[in-house]
Amino acid sequence: MTSTTRLKEILVQRIRQNDRITFADFMAACLYEPGLGYYTSPGRKVGAEGDFYTSISVHAAFGRVVARETAQMWRNMGSPAAFTLVECGAGNGRLACDIMDYLAEREPQMYSGVTIVLVEREPSLEAAQKELLNVHAARVRWLTPEPFESGEFNFSGCLYSNELIDAFPVHRVIMTADGLMEIHVALKDDDFIEEMGPLSTPAISEYLQRISVNLYPGQQAEINLAAPVWLTSAANALQRGFILTIDYGFPAVELFAPHRIRGTLLCYHRHQIEENPYIRLGQQDITAHVDFTTLMACGDQLGLRTDWFGEQYRFLLAAGIVEEIEEIEQSDATNEEKLKLRLALKKLIMPEGGMGDTFRMLVQSKGVESVRLLCQRRIGG
Ligand SMILES: C[S@@+](CC[C@H](N)C(=O)[O-])C[C@H]1O[C@@H](n2cnc3c(N)ncnc32)[C@H](O)[C@@H]1O
Repeated sequence: MTSTTRLKEILVQRIRQNDRITFADFMAACLYEPGLGYYTSPGRKVGAEGDFYTSISVHAAFGRVVARETAQMWRNMGSPAAFTLVECGAGNGRLACDIMDYLAEREPQMYSGVTIVLVEREPSLEAAQKELLNVHAARVRWLTPEPFESGEFNFSGCLYSNELIDAFPVHRVIMTADGLMEIHVALKDDDFIEEMGPLSTPAISEYLQRISVNLYPGQQAEINLAAPVWLTSAANALQRGFILTIDYGFPAVELFAPHRIRGTLLCYHRHQIEENPYIRLGQQDITAHVDFTTLMACGDQLGLRTDWFGEQYRFLLAAGIVEEIEEIEQSDATNEEKLKLRLALKKLIMPEGGMGDTFRMLVQSKGVESVRLLCQRRIGG
């Protein structure tokens, strides 16, 4: 029996037991069912041989610029002897490796006191991370999401994530003549069908109230209830320092704008976009754009100050991507490497067709006075 068939059996059984399940439960199984979900089964997900690219897989320059900013955060905190970096959703460890390489080369004083903690839901990725981060082995620790989420773990430093929150399961809602309804997944002759029904939890309407969003008649939207829950764990774990969130998404006014009538849910398979989440179970990625307004509003309630929010290209330009590129241009890199770098720069910062304006970066802090970040520098005069 294939893993897709096995996953379908599990889902069919769950739906039969409960009549129907929320889309969030359906998506959670497709992405994270142990051994069968998209992220919890073997196989390459990111990069040329995978299903999608992330900024990290484009070029090490991305991680090196993020590292520059973490060094600035360390300075903002008074250059402490010990500084913890935490990466949530660390994937294969590429970003962690690029950051640690930069710090070892350029920030030896900071590097000597850095511990990097990798938090990843899929335990088998630890082997790939170990191999990649071999030269930094003395400075790397691993943590499962449970102690992170249950409050057993505390740190001071910087917690960062790249494309973590878009991979959380979302509830789907639609505004009807009878008010806000939730999209549930039910069965018809063993095929999945969508059924509208009452909201499965009041947390959904509370979510929309917090950001003062009223959907338009007929409009669908995704509600990522896991995002504020995760941010609460992150804020509780952080004693002093920063949270840097990198993901594709928008502020709520843009995300829930009337022209986005069908929401932002999409699937990815071998670099092709697919709109149907009910096929290739566990074999395709399912994601929704991130609502950054909720992260900022919840952050306020959790004692996190928003220091910076904006498009990825602004962050990268202000935090030093041009300097990074110049250094490689002047190095003894081969012409092929230099060309690769120019193409990478284009992909990372170009708005149309690149990752420059779809991706956004949010910096929040706790207990750090007079924050002066590189990304806060003005770009373009
Ligand atoms: C879209 S991938 C991004 C991976 C990597 N950051 C990158 O940019 O290539 C999302 C990753 O987050 C992990 N993940 C999902 N929920 C998580 C959680 N609550 N804690 C830690 N990792 C999680 C998934 O297993 C997956 O590896």
